[in-house]
Amino acid sequence: MYNVMFICTGNICRSPLAHAVMEQLVKEQGLEKSVSVDSSGTDAWHSGEMTDSRMRTTAARHGVKVHHRAQRLSAADFAKFNLLLVMDSQNYRNAVSLAKTPQERDKVKMFREFDPQGTGDVPDPWYGDMTDFETVWTMVDRTCRALLDEIKTRI
Ligand code: 4NP
Repeated sequence: MYNVMFICTGNICRSPLAHAVMEQLVKEQGLEKSVSVDSSGTDAWHSGEMTDSRMRTTAARHGVKVHHRAQRLSAADFAKFNLLLVMDSQNYRNAVSLAKTPQERDKVKMFREFDPQGTGDVPDPWYGDMTDFETVWTMVDRTCRALLDEIKTRI
């Protein structure tokens, strides 16, 4: 099983979206036995909460259901997951600070490293409006598609 963890700050907007989009793609392509997906946040403020309703509404408009309860990234996750994908550079710094070995550190990559249209952060939409959530959707959807193509070469 190839295990992928998506990571953002609160695990209530960006990473649960990537989690849901990827899970849907995995299902559509019949890869459930080969690829497993989860998501978490570097911070615990929202642990246990449902995904932000603005993010759920945006995803639903595009036919994707998001149902996830926020959880915090833990040091133990580095052993369990093959690839840990962070949404922004602050998330990158926080995630690698939990890695115990250089091998664990190397599992952490910027999510948009796999974006065919560019690199950088997936911007935090928390203080934004619905346009910002739509921007996150567009980036996450296209990047997950390219990411799954890459993962298929590894499984
Ligand atoms: P996320 O968005 O990291 O995409 O889940 C955020 C959610 C909440 C906060 C920051 C980012 N917050 O500051 O509470």
